[in-house]
Amino acid sequence: MHQANPSRYAETAFQARCGKSGLHLPKISLGLWHNFGSVDDYATARSIALRAFDLGVTHFDLANNYGPAPGTAEETIGRILREDLTAYRDELIISTKAGYTMWPGPHGDFGSRKYLLASLDQSLKRMGLPYVDIFYSHRRDPHTPMEETMGALAQAVRSGKALYAAVSNYNAADTARACAILRDLGTPCVVHQPKYSLFMRTPEEGLLDTVEKEGIGCAVFSPLAQGLLTDRYLCGIPADARAGKAHGFLRPEQISDAKLAQVRALNVIAKERGQSLASMAIAWVLRDKRVTSAIIGASKISQLEQCVAAASSDTLTSDELKRIDAILAA
Ligand SMILES: NC(=O)c1ccc[n+]([C@@H]2O[C@H](COP(=O)([O-])OP(=O)(O)OC[C@H]3O[C@@H](n4cnc5c(N)ncnc54)[C@H](OP(=O)(O)O)[C@@H]3O)[C@@H](O)[C@H]2O)c1
Repeated sequence: MHQANPSRYAETAFQARCGKSGLHLPKISLGLWHNFGSVDDYATARSIALRAFDLGVTHFDLANNYGPAPGTAEETIGRILREDLTAYRDELIISTKAGYTMWPGPHGDFGSRKYLLASLDQSLKRMGLPYVDIFYSHRRDPHTPMEETMGALAQAVRSGKALYAAVSNYNAADTARACAILRDLGTPCVVHQPKYSLFMRTPEEGLLDTVEKEGIGCAVFSPLAQGLLTDRYLCGIPADARAGKAHGFLRPEQISDAKLAQVRALNVIAKERGQSLASMAIAWVLRDKRVTSAIIGASKISQLEQCVAAASSDTLTSDELKRIDAILAA
C-alpha cells in the first residue's frame, strides 16, 4: 500500500471549486487516455499515478475506451487503486465516460440509455469500484433525444454508481440544454470537458461563457495539443513520443512545418519567461478563471512534475498574451 506524501494539500490554491458545486478538482488532472493501456509498461504507469497523487493531483480522468486495448486503462487504474490507493479512495476523483465506439452494434457507441448504463457497469467492473465520482456523456449524440442521454446520466447518479453527471465535447447551445435537463432531473451537471489549448480555441466562441453562466466547472483536455505544445518535436519525432508510436493518436502528418514554426516562436516567449513551452501552455489555459482544471497526459514522471509546477507559474502579462496571439494568427 502506498504511503502518500503528507504535504499533498500544502498548496491550497491547487484545489479549485468546480463551478458552484461542492466538488473540487486539482488545477492539474491526470488523464489516462495514453500511457496506461495494456501496451504500456505497468510499473511506469503506476509510478506516474502515485507521484501525481503525492503532488495533490487527486483527479484521474478515464473513459471506457482508453487503452489500447480499449478498457485496459480502467483495468490499470483499478489495479493501482486496489494495490496502492485503497486507503485514499475518498480523496480521489475518478471520472469515466461513454460516447465513443466500445463494442459492436448500435448500443456500443454514442448516447443511448442502453449504451451509457451498460458501459458504466462495465467500467465499474474493470476498475473494481462500486461508483465513479464523475460520469460523462463523452459526446453529443445527434440521433438520440438529449432527454434520453441526460436521463441515463441522472439514473447513474440516482443509482449511486456515479456521484456527479457531466458532459464532454458538447457545443455551447447543447451544453445549456443538457444543464437545464439535468437540473430538472435533480442531478445537475457538474463539469464540462472540452478540448482547449493554444492550438484549439473554439471554447472561447461561447462555451466558456456558457459554463460560467451555468455555474459548472470546466476541465480542459489536451492543453499541450497531445505534446505538440512542448519541446518534444523540435528536433524530429522521438521513437518514444506519442507521434512515434503506432497506436498514438497524434500522427506524424499533424506535425507540419507551419505548426513547428509556431511552436518555435512560442518557445522563445516561454524561454524569456524562464519556463518550458509545456509550462507556458498550461499557464495559458489556466489564465482563464473559468477553467477549473487542465487534464494533462504524461509518459514520464518529469513531465507530470513540470505540468504540476506550471499551475503556480507567473501570470502571463498582457504583452506576452498579445505576442502569443500574433504568433497564432500568423
Ligand atoms: N473528453 C475527450 O474527448 C478527451 C479527448 C482526449 C483527451 N481527453 C483527456 O485528456 C487527457 C489528456 O490528453 P492528452 O494526453 O492529449 O494531453 P496533453 O497534455 O495535451 O498531451 C500529453 C502529452 O504531452 C507530452 N507532455 C506532457 N507533459 C510534457 C512536458 N512537461 N514536456 C514535454 N512533453 C510533455 C507527453 O507526450 P509523450 O507521450 O509523447 O511523451 C504527453 O503524453 C487524456 O488522458 C484524457 O483523460 C479527453
